[in-house]
Amino acid sequence: MTEKTPDLDKYATLNIPGHDPIILPILKGTMGPEVIDIRALGKNGYFTYDPGFVSTASCSSRITFIDGAKGVLLYRGYPIDQLANKANYLQVCYLLLKGELPNKTQYKEFEYKVIHHTLIHEQITSLFNAFRRDSHPMAIMCGIAGALSAFYHDNLDIYDPEHRERTAIRLIAKIPTLAAMAYKYSIGHPFVYPRNDLSYAGNFLYMMFSTPCEPYKVNPVIERALDKIFILHADHEQNASTSSVRLAGSSGANPYACIAAGIASLWGPAHGGANEACLRMLEQIGTVDRIPEFIARAKDRNDPFRLSGFGHRVYKTYDPRAVVMRQTCHEVLNELKIKDHPILDVATELEKIALSDEYFIERNLYPNVDFYSGIILNAIGIPTSMFTVIFALARTIGWISHWNEMQEMPESRIGRPRQIYIGKPLRNVKVLGNR
Ligand code: CMC
Repeated sequence: MTEKTPDLDKYATLNIPGHDPIILPILKGTMGPEVIDIRALGKNGYFTYDPGFVSTASCSSRITFIDGAKGVLLYRGYPIDQLANKANYLQVCYLLLKGELPNKTQYKEFEYKVIHHTLIHEQITSLFNAFRRDSHPMAIMCGIAGALSAFYHDNLDIYDPEHRERTAIRLIAKIPTLAAMAYKYSIGHPFVYPRNDLSYAGNFLYMMFSTPCEPYKVNPVIERALDKIFILHADHEQNASTSSVRLAGSSGANPYACIAAGIASLWGPAHGGANEACLRMLEQIGTVDRIPEFIARAKDRNDPFRLSGFGHRVYKTYDPRAVVMRQTCHEVLNELKIKDHPILDVATELEKIALSDEYFIERNLYPNVDFYSGIILNAIGIPTSMFTVIFALARTIGWISHWNEMQEMPESRIGRPRQIYIGKPLRNVKVLGNR
C-alpha cells in the first residue's frame, strides 16, 4: 500500500454530551500507527487542542518514516545507517527529492547539475558587507537565504515541476557556498570560490579552510565524516523547521523565503541549535569533576538548565543517527590523534553517567545526534557558531523535498491552526480620559 487509505471497517465514534455521535474515519499509512481523521470536527463546531502538535499529523508524506519507540529512521524506506554507510550525501539528496536512489548515469547527471550551480550571483557578496563581522553566522544565513528570492524570483513557477527541481538544485548547491562565506566573513578572510573537481563535502571543507596563500588538501576521513553528518541531518519528517517551511510554503510563498523560515526555526537550542548549545555546555562544565553539579541542575525542576544533546521529542530509545555518529566520532578522533582533550573527557564521562542515571533512564533521555556531531565538528576545527549552519546546510534538501512534495499533494491547504481563546471577554472601549 503506498497511499493512506481509510479502513472502511474501522471508525472512531466521538460522543459529546448533547451532540449526535461524530463518526471519524481511521486512516492507515504504509507504516506507523493508525490515524484518526478529525477533519469532520470543524464542521461540527469543535476543534482539537494539541500544543506542540504531539498527537497531530499535519500532512501525509512519502519522504521519511520514524518509529521513535524502536529507534527507526527511514528515508524513502531505506534505513539511515545503510544510507550513511553505502551512499553519499548527493545520492541521498537525489533519493529524498525524487523518491529513488540514482543509478550511475542519473547520479552523474545530478552531480553535474549541482556542481554547476554552486557559484552565487556576485552581487550577493556585497550583501555580506552589510553585516557586522561578529554577527552570528545563522543571522547571516537567515538574511541571505531569504535574499536569494531577490535574485532567483523570476521564472519561478511553483506549480511547474521543472522549475521546482531547478530551485532544489540551486539551493543544495548554493547553501554550502553561502555557509562557507559566512564563516570567511566572520574571520575577515577572502571568500573562497567553489571547486568543481571536489566532492560535495570536500568542496565545503575547501571553501571553509583554504586560503589563497597555500595549497589545501582535503583529508578523506574528515571528508567522509562530514558527508555522513550531512546524510544524518538531511531529513527528519515533520520537525519544527520542516513544519515551518511547509507552513510558509502553504501560502504559496517563494521557496527561498520558505527556506529562510526553516533556517530561523532551526536556530533554537531545542532544535538545530542543540549542537552549538551542547559544545558550549561541555566547555562550561570544563572538567569531569564538575559533571555532578550539572547533572543535579538538569534534574532540578526549578532550574531551566537541560543537558543539551540529550533527549528527543520523537525518539524514546537511542537515536539511530547517534549510533552512526558515535562511531564516526571515534574514527575522526583516531584520525586526528586526539586523546585527553578536556571537552572530550567531559563528553565521554557525561555520556556514561547519563546512560546509567535513573532520572535519564526513566525519561528515555539518550544522547542524540547532536551530542556526537558537535564533538566531531569541534575536532575538525569548525567553530561552534557554525554548527547550526552546517545542520541547516544538510537539512536544506529535506526542507525543499517537503516543500516540493507539498506542491504536488491535492490535500495541501494553507496552514491555519486554531486556538483556545483565554483572553478577556467582549468589552467596550472607553475614551482616553475615562480609562
Ligand atoms: N535534560 C534534562 N532533562 C530533560 C532533558 C534534558 N536534555 N530533556 C527532557 N528532559 C526531561 C524534562 O524535564 C521532563 O521531565 P519531567 O517529566 O520530570 O517533567 C521529561 O524529560 C520529558 O521532557 P519533555 O520536555 O516533555 O520532552 P520534549 O519531547 O518536549 O522535549 C527536547 C524534547 C529535545 C526539546 C528535550 O529533550 C530537550 O530540550 N533536549 C535538549 C536539547 C536537544 O538536545 N535538542 C536536540 C534534539 S536532536 C536535534 C533535532 O532533531 O532537532
